[in-house]
Amino acid sequence: MNTHKIAVIAGDGIGPEVIAEGVKVLKAISELNPEINFEFTEFPWGCEYYVKTGKMIADDGMEQLKKFDAIYLGAVGYPGVPDHISLWGLLLKIRKGFDQYVNLRPVRLLEGAECPLKGVDRSQIDMIVVRENSEGEYAGAGDWLFKDKPEEVVLQTGVFSRKGCERIIRYAYEVARKEGKTLTSISKANALNYSMVFWDQIFEEVGKEYPDVKTYSYLVDAACMFFVKQPERFQVVVTSNLFGDIVTDLGAAISGGMGLAAGANINPERTYPSMFEPVHGSAPDIAGQGKANPLAAIWSVSQMLDFFGYENWGSKVLNAIEKVMVERKHLTPDMGGTSKTNEVGDAVIEVLKRLA
Ligand code: NAI
Ligand code: MG
Repeated sequence: MNTHKIAVIAGDGIGPEVIAEGVKVLKAISELNPEINFEFTEFPWGCEYYVKTGKMIADDGMEQLKKFDAIYLGAVGYPGVPDHISLWGLLLKIRKGFDQYVNLRPVRLLEGAECPLKGVDRSQIDMIVVRENSEGEYAGAGDWLFKDKPEEVVLQTGVFSRKGCERIIRYAYEVARKEGKTLTSISKANALNYSMVFWDQIFEEVGKEYPDVKTYSYLVDAACMFFVKQPERFQVVVTSNLFGDIVTDLGAAISGGMGLAAGANINPERTYPSMFEPVHGSAPDIAGQGKANPLAAIWSVSQMLDFFGYENWGSKVLNAIEKVMVERKHLTPDMGGTSKTNEVGDAVIEVLKRLA
């Protein structure tokens, strides 16, 4: 029997509500397949913990997390704690500390999901965005000089290392090769005359090792236009931290909204645990009301299953999400339904049992 140790950081707001459903799905899978076992350990870190202790995570938190095979994270951030504190104190600390330099975000229009684009069908929106997750525009390098003086100056520096660019680009080429898909790089070398010229150069250099992969390269503004006008242009996409953040929100918008967007933070070498999370935040406006859509959190469970090598279960979970959306009997208000968070989770499990 394979036991996978999962650290659960449910976090703030609707985090605990949606994570409970994902955990339920994993437990159901291990019941359906006794060969697979999950061991869950919950950690109380987040904004509430910060209010009590002045810290977003325990002092030895990273040391504790290191022992796990994966981290399942809800959302962090809550009114009263500045967002840059919660983000840097927990989420970015884990992403950076565990060298989760790949952020994998599927942009796929599932069956039953609503698409705001006119005349677009499911076959046209099916991509995977590989976002650089450790440096670039979010390296946190800069300075704030002469604060509050008339000559005030702020500097926010992008950091693009050869190692950092090569590894993310190579990862994307590998995905494209494995899946027999095209690879599109999104950059902006006309305006960002150092970082993105370098990025484009490395995209070409690494590409020499992958003559079998057909490539495209777009400027980020043009790419945004094509996401809306001709999303079928994109299959595997590789891009920097900031551009990836933005285009994946656009990707979420064209493929069913934030209630469906999932993201995996991967440390490909598996030296450290990887982290799986819904892309959405803690949604303080609906927290505690059972209105949160758990499907994004459940999609991230599907990514976790893929990561553990249970691709068949990963796709069963996606199929179950699709069936629930097609049937339209158990959906939360954001998808036009009246069901509670836990009822949607139950519905997914019901379908999974039928599929198993
Ligand atoms: P948000 O994603 O929490 O909410 C945006 C809107 O989408 C809200 O109207 C919310 O009700 C709705 N929404 C989000 N997830 C939903 C779900 N599963 N089901 C139904 N409706 C959903 O983004 P917002 O409001 O900008 O941020 C709120 C807090 O979350 C902030 O403190 C922010 O820093 C934090 N945040 C944390 C993230 C993370 O932990 N990865 C990501 C984004 C924001
Ligand atoms: Mg974002």
